[in-house]
Formats: sequence, structure tokens, C-alpha cells
Amino acid sequence: MKRLVLDDAFFDSFDSSAVDVNEAQTLPPAIYVSEEFFEFEKEAVFNHEWLCVARESWIPDPGDFYTSIHIGEPIVLVRSDTGAIKAMSSVCQHRGMLVAEGHGNARNLICPYHHWTYSLDGDLVGAPAMNKARGFDPRCIKLPQFKVETWNGFVFINFDDDAPPLKPRLAALTEALANFELEIAEGPRPDPPTKFPWNWKVMMENNNDGYHANKLHAGPLHDVVPSHMSVFPTLPADTGAYFRFNGTRHRDASFNPMHKSLLPHFPKLSEAEHNRFLFGQVPPTLSLVVRPDQITYMFLHAMSATDLMMTRGWLVAPGATKEPLFAERLNIDMQSTRTIVAQDLHVDELIPIGLRSRFAPRGRYSWQEESQRELNRWLVQRYQRTWRKMKGA
Ligand code: FES
Ligand SMILES: [Fe+2]
Repeated sequence: MKRLVLDDAFFDSFDSSAVDVNEAQTLPPAIYVSEEFFEFEKEAVFNHEWLCVARESWIPDPGDFYTSIHIGEPIVLVRSDTGAIKAMSSVCQHRGMLVAEGHGNARNLICPYHHWTYSLDGDLVGAPAMNKARGFDPRCIKLPQFKVETWNGFVFINFDDDAPPLKPRLAALTEALANFELEIAEGPRPDPPTKFPWNWKVMMENNNDGYHANKLHAGPLHDVVPSHMSVFPTLPADTGAYFRFNGTRHRDASFNPMHKSLLPHFPKLSEAEHNRFLFGQVPPTLSLVVRPDQITYMFLHAMSATDLMMTRGWLVAPGATKEPLFAERLNIDMQSTRTIVAQDLHVDELIPIGLRSRFAPRGRYSWQEESQRELNRWLVQRYQRTWRKMKGA
């Protein structure tokens, strides 16, 4: 890998990745593998952007909690007594143990180590045997709080109290998804996230990428959604999400041996929506694969330059899970998807080796990679803005 120097020339060189896809080149390989760059990226992206942590439906009742993590920061989401969703750091303000793990329901969040006890709003309401600690005022102690916003049933948090709202920047994707009624779509709480040894952008770019559809995944399972049927809507420069429609070779297609959707369809879809998939991204944490009968969501949890975790789950139309043989039908889809996902993961694993090489390129794009250019534009705005701010500071 070439030595990384964070300077004006390096950040100016990003310009060529955010122009028209037919002129653009890829971003510098170092930004996918350098810990120094990841430290910069935390400030440029993760400390100020909306990060997806859960579905609202995973914490329906007062006292329900669900834990997550982004950039190594443990987060607990709680449904408070008023019904509002609170997002807090789960780091105990005594000596750093985590006050919640996994998910559950509780009257208070009690740290298992020494039983400091926090209300569902994060206030310290109990601290055993602290009566002799001079100047110790439990009323001043609170779990650090984060901003919360919900969109389409997904809960996002923001570490930045002054962050502008997310929703206005998602207008185009919101409209594209309207008929799927995501807010009321149903699905179980997913398994805990899985660890992967590569950069979060490698994963998000793969989730974006229609160019590889009938190359890497060539074969009867995937060919129903060919790369050349990609359509990229024109999006505003400040969009907070981007997406592509991918036409299917026939109506109500799916990734399974029958090439037909097996689950009940989302009921309000237009004819066009029965004839395409939608691949959507809300960087830096949410990817969606939208089919006429089901939506796969992936939450990316960046951990370091070379590690991420991913939460993966599914949503279907209200009531669909009650249909006869739902589990059996879903299982057919899941089996087929596993084959496709294994091909993707193999690429994700080898790419960082390539990107560390002295021969790693700043390559060129096919028109079918317009979504990569969209991610570049989103990133470059933030990288360059933060670099200028840090220099001026
Ligand atoms: S670390 Fe939580 S009570 Fe001690
Ligand atoms: Fe793929």
C-alpha cells in the first residue's frame, strides 16, 4: 500500500470520484484499509450522521430495550414509560461496565457489576454504598443521551445533538418505497450481528453493486435480475439515500429455483413495482433489497478500518407470516439467498487484500455502477468538508 498522507492534495484528489459515473474513478484504496483514515472518517461521517440501530417494533412496550453498537460505541434503545424511544450510551458511569446486553424488558437498567441503577430515561436512581463518597451527587449522573429519529419503522440515532433531521434528505427513497408501507411491514427481531474482517465501505459497495449481478452471480438463480436492466434515478446532490431499480425478466420474480416470489406480495404495489427490485442505501449504515414479496435489510456496524459487524433481517407484508406454509416458503428463499451471499462474501474477503497491494488502482466505472458514484459523492462531501474544518480549527 502506498503511504497515506492526509493533506490537501489527498483530499482534492477525491473530486474525480464524485463526477459523472462515465468520467469518475474509484476512491483511493487507502481509505478502505487505513486505521488512520478510519479515525478521520469517524469524525467526518459517524460522529454526525444518522445511524440505523433497530426497528421500532423490536421494542413495542414500556421497558423494552435493545442494544446495538456503532464505531465501538455501545448503544441501548429503550421504550420509556411515556412510549417515547430513548437512545443512550450503555456505558455505566461508574466504571464502564455495560448496563444492558442483547434485548429484554426491565423496570430500570441495573448495571450487573455494582448495581448502579438507571431509570428508563437514563437517570442514575440508585448507587449502593456511595454515601461516604465526598461531593458525589447522583442527580448529576446520567447515561449519555443521543438524538433519535424514525423513518419507515427504522430507528436511527445520532451522536451529534446539533445534527439536522434525516427525513428531508430521504425524500426520493421515501417516495420510491411508499407502496411497500414499510412502517407496518412485519418481521422478527433478527439474530445478533455477524463479524466480518473488512471495511464497512466494501460491504456497502457490494450491497450497491448491480454490475456484478450476472457476472459474479452468473447462473440460473440470479439471472432473473440482470445488470443491464438497472435504472438509476437522478437524485439531488445532498441526498441522504440513493438507490437503483433493477428490472426483472418477468413479473414477481425472486431468487429461488422457481424464479417466482413465494410469499404474499405487498398489497399496494404498482405494475412497475411487480416488475423490478429496488436496491437502496442510507449510508453509512442501512442497505435494503426490496422485492415484491419481501425486503431484506442490513445494518452495517463499522468497528475499525478492517472490521465491521452486520445485522441482517427481513420484512414482509402485514399478516403474511400467518399464511399457510409461510416458514417453509421463506426457507426456500433463504436457502437460495445463501448461495448468492456466499459469492458476495468471498469477494468482500479478497478485496481488502487487493486494496492493500502496491498495485491497487483508482479504477474506472461502468455505467452500471452509478450507485458507487452516488456513495462517493455522499462520502466526498463529508470528507472534504471535515478536512477543511479541521484545518481551519
Ligand atoms: S461499573 Fe456499573 S456499577 Fe460499577
Ligand atoms: Fe452480490
